[in-house]
Amino acid sequence: MSEIYANRPASSPLLSDCSFYQTIDIPGIGVQPGQWDLRGNVRNYLGDIDFAGQRVLEIGTANGFVCFEMERRGADVVAFDLAEELTYDAPPHSPEYLSQDQYRDGLRRIRNAWWLAHAALNSRARVAYGHANRIPSALGRFDVGVLANVMQHLQDPIGALMGLAAISNNAVVVTETDWMHGTNEDLVGMIYFDKDNPYVWYQVKPRLVEAVLLRMGFVDIVRSEHRQLFKVSAEHTEAGAIGVETNVEVPHYTIVARRKNRPDSLIAPS
Ligand SMILES: C[S@@+](CC[C@H](N)C(=O)[O-])C[C@H]1O[C@@H](n2cnc3c(N)ncnc32)[C@H](O)[C@@H]1O
Repeated sequence: MSEIYANRPASSPLLSDCSFYQTIDIPGIGVQPGQWDLRGNVRNYLGDIDFAGQRVLEIGTANGFVCFEMERRGADVVAFDLAEELTYDAPPHSPEYLSQDQYRDGLRRIRNAWWLAHAALNSRARVAYGHANRIPSALGRFDVGVLANVMQHLQDPIGALMGLAAISNNAVVVTETDWMHGTNEDLVGMIYFDKDNPYVWYQVKPRLVEAVLLRMGFVDIVRSEHRQLFKVSAEHTEAGAIGVETNVEVPHYTIVARRKNRPDSLIAPS
């Protein structure tokens, strides 16, 4: 089944052809600043679980900071991200704001950054590409499924969560930004992200995630709240995207949900 995984590029991408979503320290190259700097609080971002010896599927790996961090903690990671021919399930937006070419080029540069870091770190992680709502069955089953800051981008976030839960034997870790935290805790569902943003559809509230995971057989559910450093936001101008410095500590939640028993009796969504 090796063809399910992407092949390593023949030569490592050039730094000048990479973009970084998460800040990452690449051996021999140095710290590459990204939009988010998770380095100070990655333990909470990952729900403080023990990754040693775990086969992990990470949906939405971007440039791989989380993937390589879990590997460093002993996980055997399969990373997953959008296939080259796809874009985000983007809210419709005008091409003057962000053209299709800019959009695809941004994704390509982030994929390059994953491979650059992968080579420099001598990572054994593998990566496959597709869509979070259609995880290829050939990837098999996992001990732990990780879905961090991906649901907000999907038209069907619950479907993606259920798909991941169905192939996760022991635990699922879900982390999302909670920008609207504090005033909407009574809302159980999703909040339309009412901002001019070509990437984000919703804020998915934690109670909905917990309810879905409970239905999927995860009976031990722990939610924690933490903050992560948002360094730079992209502003799209006619000339392209520019980085605007923010340095905001953004509220997040992380849900760690565990099964008591193996889920062999559950029917996976098709
Ligand atoms: C906001 S970033 C989060 C990156 C990383 N998980 C983290 O927590 O830092 C969203 C990631 O999800 C990926 N993504 C967006 N839509 C996707 C989809 N439909 N299927 C798979 N990955 C997707 C993006 O390419 C990007 O790498």
